[in-house]
Amino acid sequence: MGTAALRRHLGRAVRIAIGRYRALKPDTIRFRGAFESHEEALRHVRPGKVKGYDNNGVSEVSKALMQEVPLWDYPMLYWLKRLSPEIDRVIDAGGHIGVKYRAFAPYLELDRIEWVVYDLPAQVRAGRAEARPEDKTLSFVERLEDAPPANVLLGSGLLPYLDQPLADLIGHLRQRPRYILLNKVATRDGPTVVTLENFRLAEVPYHIRNVREVPEALSALGYDIVDSWIIDSIAHRIDTHPELGASVSRGYAARLRDAG
Ligand SMILES: C[S@@+](CC[C@H](N)C(=O)[O-])C[C@H]1O[C@@H](n2cnc3c(N)ncnc32)[C@H](O)[C@@H]1O
Repeated sequence: MGTAALRRHLGRAVRIAIGRYRALKPDTIRFRGAFESHEEALRHVRPGKVKGYDNNGVSEVSKALMQEVPLWDYPMLYWLKRLSPEIDRVIDAGGHIGVKYRAFAPYLELDRIEWVVYDLPAQVRAGRAEARPEDKTLSFVERLEDAPPANVLLGSGLLPYLDQPLADLIGHLRQRPRYILLNKVATRDGPTVVTLENFRLAEVPYHIRNVREVPEALSALGYDIVDSWIIDSIAHRIDTHPELGASVSRGYAARLRDAG
C-alpha cells in the first residue's frame, strides 16, 4: 500500500473510531446511526424517546425557526413570486403547522392563493389548533388525495423526513401540479442512508438520498428541472458515522413537461 493510500486508510479508521465514541453519548449529538430504511431507523429509536414526527409535541421542535425566512428559503420565494400570476392554489407537503404560509405572507399575495398544507395527523391537529383569524386561505389535509388540484406542489424540508419515494407521494395527488418546488433535499453520492435526528423528546428518521434519486423521479414523473441550487450552510455529517461524508442540501424547481 502506498503512503497516500495508507494515510487515507488510517484517516478513515480514525473517523470511524471517533464516530463510534460519539455514539456512546447520544444526547450530545444531532445525528445518530446509519440505516438502510426508515423502518430500520425507527426500530433503533432509544427507549423513552418518541418515534418520529407523527406525535403530539413534536411540532414544537424548531417551530419558531421554521416560521422565519432564512437565506435558503429565497430560491423558493423567487419561484413562488415568479409563478404567482399563474398560481391560485399551492399544496405545501410537509407544511407542518403552516410555518411557511406564515413566513411567506409578507412576500406573496396569500389572500388570493389557497394554501393547502398536507402533513402527518399530529402536525395537522396542531396546525388546525393554532390557526389564526387572519389565516383565511390556509387549510390542512391529512391525505394528499383530499387536496384539491393545485398549480404548485411545494416540498420544503420534506424529503429528509419522508418515509417513501417522491414518486409514491406524487402518485397520491388527484392531478399532477404544473410545478414542483423542492427545498432542503439532503443528498449524497453513495447509496441512500437513513439516520436518526435528535429532537430531544423524539428521534426522527432523516433520509440522505442518493443524489440521482430526486432528479430521476422528477424526470420519470414527466417533469423537467428548470432550476436547482445547493444550500452550503445545511450540509450535515452523521456524528456517529463521519466516514460517510457530509450531505449536500439541494433545491429543485421542476415543470411538467407538456405544460408549455
Ligand atoms: C422539517 S419539517 C418542514 C417544515 C417546513 N415545510 C419548512 O420548510 O420549514 C418536515 C415536515 O415533514 C412532515 N412529514 C414527515 N413525513 C411526512 C409524510 N409522510 N407526509 C407528510 N408530511 C410528512 C413532518 O411532519 C414535518 O412537518
